[in-house]
Amino acid sequence: MNSLDLFSKCYKNKKVIITGHTGFKGSWMAIWLKELGAEVYGYSLEPSLEKDNFVTTELSKKINHNIGDIRDKEKLETYFNEVKPDFAFHLAAQPLVIESYNDPHYNFETNLMGTVNFFEAVRNCPSVKVAVNITTDKCYQNNEWMWGYRENDAMGGDDPYSASKGCSELITNSYLKSFFSKGNTAHVASGRAGNVIGGGDWAENRIIPDMIRAYHSNKTSIIRNPNSVRPWQFVLEPLFGYLKLGEKLWNDGKLFSGGWNFGPAAFENYSVGDVVNEVKKIIPEIKIDSPNVGEKLHEAGLLKLDITKAVNLLGWKPKLNFEETIQSTIDGYLQELNKNNNVYDCRVKQIEAYCKK
Ligand SMILES: NC(=O)c1ccc[n+]([C@@H]2O[C@H](COP(=O)([O-])OP(=O)(O)OC[C@H]3O[C@@H](n4cnc5c(N)ncnc54)[C@H](O)[C@@H]3O)[C@@H](O)[C@H]2O)c1
Repeated sequence: MNSLDLFSKCYKNKKVIITGHTGFKGSWMAIWLKELGAEVYGYSLEPSLEKDNFVTTELSKKINHNIGDIRDKEKLETYFNEVKPDFAFHLAAQPLVIESYNDPHYNFETNLMGTVNFFEAVRNCPSVKVAVNITTDKCYQNNEWMWGYRENDAMGGDDPYSASKGCSELITNSYLKSFFSKGNTAHVASGRAGNVIGGGDWAENRIIPDMIRAYHSNKTSIIRNPNSVRPWQFVLEPLFGYLKLGEKLWNDGKLFSGGWNFGPAAFENYSVGDVVNEVKKIIPEIKIDSPNVGEKLHEAGLLKLDITKAVNLLGWKPKLNFEETIQSTIDGYLQELNKNNNVYDCRVKQIEAYCKK
C-alpha cells in the first residue's frame, strides 16, 4: 500500500474537485490526493502571496488548476460539467473573522452564495458521488461553556464570519434534506474543524503566521487574547478526517451524510499563551510582546469540539498531541524558509510521517 494511503485506495484514479485549492488547507489536500493517485482539479481565486503553499510547492504544474470565483454560478457549473468529478470538496471561502468585519457583504456573498453555488454545481453534475462542505467549529452558537460542541448542537455565530459558516451548515442541511437524501444522488456531508495550523499558511491575524512573519523580519510579535482556548490542529489532522469521511461516503453512502466534527482530543485544551510558549521552546529567539502570556486560563473565549461521533463511526482520531502539533507546524515553516529545500517534497515527507504515526 502507498505509505500515504489511509483510505483503502478509494481515491486512486478518481477525479476530485477542490474549491479553494490555492489556499492553505486546499493546497495541502491537493498534494495528499495527488500522491494518492487522484486526478486533482482546483477551482479558486489566484493565490494571494508568493510564499503561499500553493506557489512554493509549484502545484500549478502538478494538478489541473483553474481560476474562478465561487460566486460565479455559471462558471462553476460549467467547470464541474467539463471535469465530471467523482468527489467534490468545498474549501473556497472568506476564512477570517477580522476580514468579515471589514467587508461583511463580501464575506456573506462568498460563504453563503458560494455554498449554494457549490451544491447547485453538484446537483447539476450527475458524476459527483461525494460532496463535502468544509466549515468550522465557529459554526456553533458559542455558549462559552466548558463542554465540546456536538454535531446536533445549535448553529449560530455573532461575528459575520461565524454567522456565515453557521449559515453554510444550514444550507448544506437544506440541500441534503431537499435534494440529496433519496435515490441515486450525491452523498453529502460537512466537516467542522478547529484552529488549523501548519507550514504554508501566511494569513494575516492568525497567531502562528504572525509569529513566524515577525521572527523572519526580526520584529516583535504582539499576541492578542493569550487566554483564549482553541482546538489547535496540525493541518493533516482535519484533512485526514475530510478524506476519511469522503471514503466512507463513497463506500457506504448516505449512512455517513450530515455534519462531522474533527477536533483535537478532549484533554488537549491549550490557550494562545500555551502555543506561544511551545513555539518559544523550538525558536527561543522569537520576540513576543504580551503582558498576559502564561497567565491562568480565563473562561472567556472557550471553544471546543466533541469528536466522539467521528472517532466511533469513521475510525478517525487525532494522531498528534499538542507538542507534536506545534513541532510539525514549525518544522513546516522552517523547511519552506530554507531556500535549498524542495517544498513539495517536504510536504510529502510530512504526510508520510503523519500516516506512519
Ligand atoms: N485555517 C483554519 O484555521 C480553518 C479552521 C476552520 C475552518 N477553516 C475553513 O477551511 C476552509 C479553507 O480555509 P484556509 O485556511 O485554507 O483559507 P485560505 O484563505 O488559505 O484559502 C481560501 C481559499 O478559498 C479561495 N477563495 C476565497 N474567496 C473565493 C472566491 N470568492 N471565489 C473562489 N475562491 C475563493 C481562495 O482563493 C483560497 O484558495 C475555509 O472554508 C475556512 O473557513 C479554516
